[in-house]
Amino acid sequence: MKVTLKETIRVRRTVADCFRYLKDFSTIEQWDPGVYRAEKLTPGAVAVGAEFLLQLNISGKRVPMTYQLTACEDNTRLVLEGVNETLHALDTLTFSAIEDELTEITYEAQLTLKNVPQFLRLPMMPALNRLGKKAVSGLQTALERPASAPKISWNSALKDKLILPAALDFTERGYLRQADKGLSQFMDGKTVVLTGPTSGLGLAAASEFSRLGAKLVLIGRDHQRLQAARDTVLDFSGADAATIDFFEAELSLLSEVSRVADEILAAYPSVDVLVNNAGVLPLQREVTAEGHELTLAVNCLAPVLLMRRLLPALSAGSRVINVASGGMYLSGVNLADIESEHGFEGAKAYAQAKRALVTLTEMYACEWKSLGIDCNSMHPGWASTPGVAKSLPAFNKALASRLRDARMGADTVVWLAASEELRGQTGDFWFDRERHPVNVLPGKALSPNRALALKVWVENALAGYMNSGKSKAA
Ligand SMILES: NC(=O)c1ccc[n+]([C@@H]2O[C@H](COP(=O)([O-])OP(=O)(O)OC[C@H]3O[C@@H](n4cnc5c(N)ncnc54)[C@H](OP(=O)(O)O)[C@@H]3O)[C@@H](O)[C@H]2O)c1
Repeated sequence: MKVTLKETIRVRRTVADCFRYLKDFSTIEQWDPGVYRAEKLTPGAVAVGAEFLLQLNISGKRVPMTYQLTACEDNTRLVLEGVNETLHALDTLTFSAIEDELTEITYEAQLTLKNVPQFLRLPMMPALNRLGKKAVSGLQTALERPASAPKISWNSALKDKLILPAALDFTERGYLRQADKGLSQFMDGKTVVLTGPTSGLGLAAASEFSRLGAKLVLIGRDHQRLQAARDTVLDFSGADAATIDFFEAELSLLSEVSRVADEILAAYPSVDVLVNNAGVLPLQREVTAEGHELTLAVNCLAPVLLMRRLLPALSAGSRVINVASGGMYLSGVNLADIESEHGFEGAKAYAQAKRALVTLTEMYACEWKSLGIDCNSMHPGWASTPGVAKSLPAFNKALASRLRDARMGADTVVWLAASEELRGQTGDFWFDRERHPVNVLPGKALSPNRALALKVWVENALAGYMNSGKSKAA
């Protein structure tokens, strides 16, 4: 059975932007609801011959299909040939500039479906046409920049109140139900500092930042893992090796955080985005050489110290994004035992440290608002990462088929960093590209006085490590 689908859209973006976004055909996972997952199989920059592996959603099943780029004429035409056991596709995308910021894209798919019984052929046509229309409408949404930041939807506000439905969205279901998954706002010329880039969400975020054209400054504790991360990122994005720099620091030690901040300030006087992503959930209580409980040190003290020490490089329009956890909803902050000296449980200490980080992010957001620096925190839902496999093996196993992949977990980090329409949005807690309340369960919120006491405690703990940078803070 042979079918030709053809759709034309006009998109308010330059032809160069549209072409650049679509040339890496794996972005199809961001806009075509018929595609669950797509990856570029050929490492490095996309050129004729590049291969992509798509997982299609067909009648609730995941069906693999391989595509190859067979023609690539700059800003004009892309041709891709796709094959699997039952389908052959020849996709042609043509681009033409109508105005500077208006591009016409025509998507033609010539499909040959094998083994389709005669009686099904006619009824299938409307369904195929609908899929084609949905795909190009998704492409338009992914490419066009929203005029304003998203409002809180009544649906997710209600779910947050009911708690359980919101928690169900922590799985990949939450990511998949988002209407717009596009990441097409390029970050050329922007410098992104990111901690924890060597695995999981950090590696996925670094890869996407690099594809969007950002300059990356990666902070990790192991030279070889940093080199491996850089190679993975470059394979994914095809960017030039010179766009990735890395610095080594053991982030559980405040002296190391302070030192690396000095090194970054010397090399990068201007930073557009700081992502504090590194995190840990140890099962036993460990104390660092500086005397802090490890969970608190890595998940709270280090990110707060890094953002404060990098302040001289941040300016109006810069963004700080702190990666927290939905586990935070289950915890308050016990100011009398913030170092968990009187009884330690890994998940509790982790939730408390993340709650403290979110509270402090809100407070610095207020303090730095007049500087035009936006500070937000987010949580990634439940994503399958090496960290989760190690720290929560039973949870990881039980939810294996429902967990997000790292890219889905990292999506909101990249979106918060890249989206122009979010400029000036500060002091919020985000999940799946929407604001969410910080306090859901009773008794977990910090009163203003207790939040202030927390800030005083943390700033005292950091005081000895604040010296070498000039501070802009009030
Ligand atoms: N995955 C989830 O479902 C989930 C849910 C909620 C929140 N989060 C948060 O998301 C962030 C990323 O987590 P993930 O799941 O991607 O974990 P992951 O796979 O374990 O990655 C953690 C990253 O942090 C780095 N790191 C840990 N301790 C460090 C230290 N002392 N010094 C320097 N770097 C250190 C690790 O470096 P090495 O490679 O050197 O170990 C690694 O790059 C964390 O903040 C986590 O709390 C994740």
